[in-house]
Amino acid sequence: MGVTPANDSRTETPLTAPGEIVHTGAAEFPGLDSWRELPLKQQPDWRNHPDFSSACAELSSNPPLVFAGEVDKLKRRLALVANGEAFLLQGGDCAETFEDVTADKISAKVKTLLQMAVVLTYGASLPVVKMGRMAGQYAKPRSSDMETRGEVTLPSFRGEIVNGFDFTPEMRIPDPKRMVQAYHKSAATLNLIRAFTEGGFADLRAVQQWNKGFMENPAHARYEQIAGEIDRAVRFMSACGVEFESLKRTEFYAAHEALLLDYERALTRIDSRTGKPYVTSGHFVWIGERTRDLDGAHVDYLSRVRNPLGVKLGPSTTPSTVLELIEKLDPEREPGRLTFIVRMGTANVREKLPALVEAVRDSGAKVVWVTDPMHGNTITAKNGYKTRRFDDVMDEVRGFFEVHQAAGTYPGGLHVEMTGDDVAECLGGSDVIDESAFDTRYESLVDPRLNHKQSLEMAFLVAEQLTRIT
Ligand code: TRP
Ligand code: MN
Repeated sequence: MGVTPANDSRTETPLTAPGEIVHTGAAEFPGLDSWRELPLKQQPDWRNHPDFSSACAELSSNPPLVFAGEVDKLKRRLALVANGEAFLLQGGDCAETFEDVTADKISAKVKTLLQMAVVLTYGASLPVVKMGRMAGQYAKPRSSDMETRGEVTLPSFRGEIVNGFDFTPEMRIPDPKRMVQAYHKSAATLNLIRAFTEGGFADLRAVQQWNKGFMENPAHARYEQIAGEIDRAVRFMSACGVEFESLKRTEFYAAHEALLLDYERALTRIDSRTGKPYVTSGHFVWIGERTRDLDGAHVDYLSRVRNPLGVKLGPSTTPSTVLELIEKLDPEREPGRLTFIVRMGTANVREKLPALVEAVRDSGAKVVWVTDPMHGNTITAKNGYKTRRFDDVMDEVRGFFEVHQAAGTYPGGLHVEMTGDDVAECLGGSDVIDESAFDTRYESLVDPRLNHKQSLEMAFLVAEQLTRIT
């Protein structure tokens, strides 16, 4: 249709039932495109690509991946977290890949997250809001636009929604058609997640089965014990004639970094019930540490959509920045709207986080505080691989809990890069992974993830921390 995004006049596909009023997007929301005039970081240079307009147009006419009603429900769940009445678990790949959109990989990831959720729910007697870095986590920020190897310089890999990983011109030149491919991969992923979590796979009576196929280790023995106790309790209640519908299914939400604004804009829809814009590429989106500039395009755009939002906060964040982010992204102080995902590094968390937490507490604003203990603890192993030490990761989690305890605030959640597979990317854990395993079991294209066992161990350690405060 040849519409350039700069003066976008596309009609939005409404999230509407037949007979409901159809709202159009840009016309109703003059501000929705003001991000286009603002500094925009971390985007591929592809606006003049011959397929750019048609890819955006196709995404705009595709059905939404999530429904605004689900997004609102998630916001209500996150309001409980902000209030200290639930815990948020976010986990998944650093960067999803198209190749890994398979039943096996998705089910291993979902099973691992469900197991972690069970450990946390049982350990801390708190409801857990379950969320995957899944079904849309395809775009990556990079420290430089170009990568040079020997004589050759090519665009950096920005995630499979933009370009390919292999270091060839064909793969590295950004291709807008990849956005359409990412949309379909996300749809397939979300479809399977929905089938799993609604269709019996997540039934708590199968709690022992989720461990099958994963290898033995101490965390598994502990898991088996909890699973056995839950199984007994559930069977006791069934014998008493109790029928709990809520044991059979669970809510599972999709989250990703809202980095690529062409993609997010094309998947924004106006909800016919509320007349408000929603990003429909996922339920929850976050703004990365590198794109959270107060006057930048990302903060402006996401301030205008109704989804619950996350913002990553690194060690250089100041209290005044945090307060300004609240003012821009949550001016109405809507419970559940805003989550701060803290990634300070174990060396900084105890020193830098208190001022931020106290400033927010004293301002009266209510946000969800989540620890991301992965991103501030990345090191380079002796043999060149990017890795993280399990002990550093855990120490940052402990620091996060200590800071909240001291401030009298609630440590609301955990954000981890993990997989259900038996990879070797992070060092340590009770299974002792060292550098020598990287050559054969390192699969991540970007950051190192906790494997299945390390993820379960992490859940036990976090459950212990949580039990202390609940
Ligand atoms: N519906 C409850 C919940 O989501 C109980 C539940 C069902 C559950 N399946 C689960 C909890 C799987 C954790 C994991 O919390
Ligand atoms: Mn990462």
